[in-house]
Amino acid sequence: MATSALRLEHIDAYYGDSHVLQDVSFELGEARMLGLLGRNGAGKSTCMNVAMGLLAPRRGKVTVFGEEVAGRSPENIAACGVALVPQGRRIFKSLSVRENLIVAAREPRNSAHAPWTLDTVFAMFPRLRERTTQMAAHLSGGEQQMLAIGRALMGNPRVLLMDEPSEGLAPQIVHEVMETIRKLKQSGLSIVLVEQNPTLVFDVADDIVLLNTGQVAVVSTPAALRQDDAVLRQHLGVF
Ligand SMILES: Nc1ncnc2c1ncn2[C@@H]1O[C@H](COP(=O)(O)OP(=O)(O)OP(=O)(O)O)[C@@H](O)[C@H]1O
Ligand SMILES: [Mg+2]
Repeated sequence: MATSALRLEHIDAYYGDSHVLQDVSFELGEARMLGLLGRNGAGKSTCMNVAMGLLAPRRGKVTVFGEEVAGRSPENIAACGVALVPQGRRIFKSLSVRENLIVAAREPRNSAHAPWTLDTVFAMFPRLRERTTQMAAHLSGGEQQMLAIGRALMGNPRVLLMDEPSEGLAPQIVHEVMETIRKLKQSGLSIVLVEQNPTLVFDVADDIVLLNTGQVAVVSTPAALRQDDAVLRQHLGVF
């Protein structure tokens, strides 16, 4: 892996006295997609919260394109080029689609790629364009997920963290969301895709990290893991 877009090194993170991440290390390469898998409560969202600065680790390093960011504010980490599509979407329900997007707008850190704007986000999600002035609360679950992704893109990130974007969506909508994720990867974004469903991740990811009870259990690839039912059963309880 030539350039590292995001690296967690020996992270220990706590909620109060509860030691939730234990010595977690993994690396997302530039323009690659890392699938982060694990059962309920394995610590996937906590990894994302640490990377985004929503939870300060007690030990360890977080680097974004080589810059150490652990302990910085979410705002500061966003300015380094990291955006999070949070689990459960967390859009502003009482704001319109347009307002949700505009409040998240941020100049790109470098101009290697054409910046994301309202127009380019609407080009990717035509259904959002049709609902520009609608209150976000009135969108369907799939549309809300698209808005959450669009909002993250408005920040013009270099690293996109997506926490269970398929959760609670109908299969056809999951398919659309996964197609979007595929396109984003092709555009050169470096992506962490958190999922519980390995099949979804295996189709798009380059690298896989399996978390089990707050620890990295396996670092592998989709090709290798597809062949390894025992590992999937042990750490995900599937197959
Ligand atoms: N705010 C919090 N305060 C205390 N404990 C928490 C908090 N958030 C999560 N935890 C605990 O930390 C552990 C890891 O949670 P986390 O949300 O990171 O798991 P996850 O892998 O994202 O699970 P899921 O697939 O259900 O989203 C769990 O035991 C959870 O109960
Ligand atoms: Mg989670």
